[in-house]
Amino acid sequence: MLDVHTHILPGVDDGIESEEEALSVIQEYKNNGVEKIVFTPHLNHPTVKTDIEKIYNTYERLKPKFEEIGVKTYLGSEIYLTPKVDKLIPINERFLLLELPTESYPIYLLDKIFELQLEGYDIILAHVERYRWLNDNEPVIDRLKTMNVYFQMNFESIKNDNYYLKNSLVEFLATDYHRNRNNLDFSLFEKYREIIEKELEILKLK
Ligand SMILES: [Fe+2]
Repeated sequence: MLDVHTHILPGVDDGIESEEEALSVIQEYKNNGVEKIVFTPHLNHPTVKTDIEKIYNTYERLKPKFEEIGVKTYLGSEIYLTPKVDKLIPINERFLLLELPTESYPIYLLDKIFELQLEGYDIILAHVERYRWLNDNEPVIDRLKTMNVYFQMNFESIKNDNYYLKNSLVEFLATDYHRNRNNLDFSLFEKYREIIEKELEILKLK
């Protein structure tokens, strides 16, 4: 089992702060049968400032400790999409998890996605259910799907809004874990096992 969107890498963004907390959360993942975790710290976020070097260094330093627990970890990022983005950490060198403004349609969206695809990246939209301008906006949803853009939804949103799941528009489900352990419900990984197993195939994570 896999969690593809997390802020567990400690001390690099608005997620987990300490190494101890990260180790204990990762142990909890292991205990619940989730043995692959992708860290997706924020990049290019308007309010959460992050340092890409610090992200790389923290990951390299802590990776052996995480793997001692028996969990395989991968480094990616959650990139806030603006017309100009210069720093990217793709998942498995190819998949970009993109975050978008929630309230208004980013007019550069389709051009920018196309540009990144031409550079050889595959696109995953993070927590699609959060974008008000996208909800029920079938022409844009269809356009994105025609462009082979993957949609990721947060587990915690499933109970509030099932539109994307019901219409089979979701390829990725994840926790987007920041700090609140009460939100971690591992039974959902089991419930949506079929989707999560496909995620591994799409990402080709070993
Ligand atoms: Fe996130």
